[in-house]
Amino acid sequence: MNHARTSIAIALGLTALAGGTLTGCRGERTDKPPRQFFPDMDDQERFKPQYETHFFADGRSQRPAVAGTVAYGRAPIDHDAAIEAGWGDQFETQRERLLKDDQSLYFGTTSAPADEASHYIRDIPVEVTMDLIREGQEKFDIYCAVCHGYEGDGHGPVGNRYTVRPANFHDPKYANKDDILGRDGYVFHVARNGLYDPAGTMRMPGYGHALDEHEAWAVVSYIRTLQASRGVSIDSDIVPSVQRSRLMEQQGSPVGQSDETTPNATGSAIAEGGEQ
Ligand code: HEC
Repeated sequence: MNHARTSIAIALGLTALAGGTLTGCRGERTDKPPRQFFPDMDDQERFKPQYETHFFADGRSQRPAVAGTVAYGRAPIDHDAAIEAGWGDQFETQRERLLKDDQSLYFGTTSAPADEASHYIRDIPVEVTMDLIREGQEKFDIYCAVCHGYEGDGHGPVGNRYTVRPANFHDPKYANKDDILGRDGYVFHVARNGLYDPAGTMRMPGYGHALDEHEAWAVVSYIRTLQASRGVSIDSDIVPSVQRSRLMEQQGSPVGQSDETTPNATGSAIAEGGEQ
């Protein structure tokens, strides 16, 4: 009996001790260094990029590529066999995106001198579908509308207070494809690279970090859609019939104010039309 009691007491004692050790690991504030249960995982030997090391003769932790290294996408593949095997498409796309060989698609430009309109390609080089326009609408609303406004008229909330007045895409100069400003390639270029004045001061930030080439073309297609949505007669073919009556009801009230769920009634009228 006594023996059993002692065992229970020891067991309870151990439980309490274990509890005591484990509590205080999480959620409590302390200035002591944290407990490390697996120190080898926390404190591994490793190189940080751009750091100095004495391990390599040249003192650099970051190793130069082995001589003769090429981008993996340049490796020859048997296209037909790859497609048949079911992994070819993805590989091809990766390869194209890596190499950016197609200047018009990846830069929106041609080899003509930069000050000529023909330096920028005239038309979007990918197929313009409803999906592309919708994707463009989503990206435009996220990245461009703060300055250029949801309708592209340059009156976004940030744009109204910006040091430079953002472009109003409904100005006819942005639709004249004989001139640089109206070229699809130029809009693409500005979307990805931004705008700088000759002295190098930024007038508009570039969005290449947020919009890949495909997404930037999508945004261009949406800007063209916004432009097409202006100055059109309500009887025009491009106004989807399902939207016509709704637009008639809204006539006289500022766009979007009669229906809170569609702040951009004109743009989405066009966008939704394709589903018919
Ligand atoms: C921070 C505000 C801001 C944002 C966000 C912004 N822009 Fe701009 N954008 C401007 C300003 C300001 C100008 C006018 C600059 C000038 O007049 O030199 C401009 C001009 C332009 C022009 C006309 C260029 C020209 O030479 O006249 C295009 C095209 C354009 N923006 C596209 C876009 C696209 C596409 C996006 C979204 C990816 C975007 N902008 C996001 C501020 C912005």
